[in-house]
Amino acid sequence: PHKIIIDTDPGVDDVLAILLALSSPEVEVALITAVFGNTHAPMTFSNLLKMYYNLGLEFAANPEARKRFPLVSSEKKTLVAIGENGPIGGEKHVATYFHGPDGLSNIGETHPEFSPPPSKPEDEHEFVKFVPRKGWEAILDVLRAEPAGTVSVVALGPLTNVAWAAREDPETFARVAEVVWMGGALDVPGNTSPVAEFNCFADPYAFAYLLDEVKKGAFRLVFAPLDITSPHMIPFSDLLHPADGPTKPTPLQAFTTSFLTRVRGLQAKFGLPDAMEMHDPVAVWYAIGNRGSPELAAGWSVKGRQFAVERNGEITRGMCVVDRRGTDESTGNRAEDEDLKGAGLTKESAATLGKEDKA
Ligand code: BDR
Ligand code: CA
Repeated sequence: PHKIIIDTDPGVDDVLAILLALSSPEVEVALITAVFGNTHAPMTFSNLLKMYYNLGLEFAANPEARKRFPLVSSEKKTLVAIGENGPIGGEKHVATYFHGPDGLSNIGETHPEFSPPPSKPEDEHEFVKFVPRKGWEAILDVLRAEPAGTVSVVALGPLTNVAWAAREDPETFARVAEVVWMGGALDVPGNTSPVAEFNCFADPYAFAYLLDEVKKGAFRLVFAPLDITSPHMIPFSDLLHPADGPTKPTPLQAFTTSFLTRVRGLQAKFGLPDAMEMHDPVAVWYAIGNRGSPELAAGWSVKGRQFAVERNGEITRGMCVVDRRGTDESTGNRAEDEDLKGAGLTKESAATLGKEDKA
């Protein structure tokens, strides 16, 4: 299996995405780093432990379930670390309005049975080993320890940890096979503001930094903006265990149903479809089965589009400002002779247009 590092802010869809990765034999999850985003970093980290706790309950109740998570084991534990609790630049924002104050629909209070007994991060855990390092340091440690080009970073939240890693040790970071990220919005409206997607909004400085490095050829970044992820919806009726169904939910079904039920209610309140957008799972889906696929990379790679990220605009923070003037690497600069002919212009007359308008 291909090794991946998941950087994440669980977060309701993050949990589904991590479970997807853990149930996919194509990838080995070497490290998971928590970052602020949907809620504060200590809580996104504890949600991660909560997910593993409920996975353990699932295995205990149903030994067959182990086969569906072939690489989750107490012998070879996944490393986990706590990362940054705020952006590289600008004010901190969290998405608790959607994910709940604890990042998981507040089930810590409403459903205490889904929380593991209180423990410190450094305590012994069944399937994970806590690394007492900053998130970005832990990312670099893994990239340093593995052969160059063999580990991908799959980022499902604000890019803060990833940008810190790339900035602190560019040489080691260049060993990454690729960075896969869920974030941004190019030709569709944002979900946090009219123009910005949440992960991009939460730390636009981080994305802007990484984008600059990518443009210099430092490493490869493939990302799934809202344009791609929003259309991938799963109806809640397929995601939730039916309350009046003939069978009892398994522990994992009970856990996911508990936090997704509130999200379903929230969507109904906002008049949104009765289905959940699979933002983070789409990024994992790429990482598990479609790595390096030329067709996908053509559509997803930042090279396909010319844009810059707004870092601190008054109303445009986190916006991907796409150059729609027809300037891209394949067509060259705008106002090529052919385009101009179509408009009945020559290069010279086009160049004077603006001046005449003003005169
Ligand atoms: C992204 O923002 C978060 O709320 C989700 O977990 C996802 O990573 C979607 O915009
Ligand atoms: Ca996320």
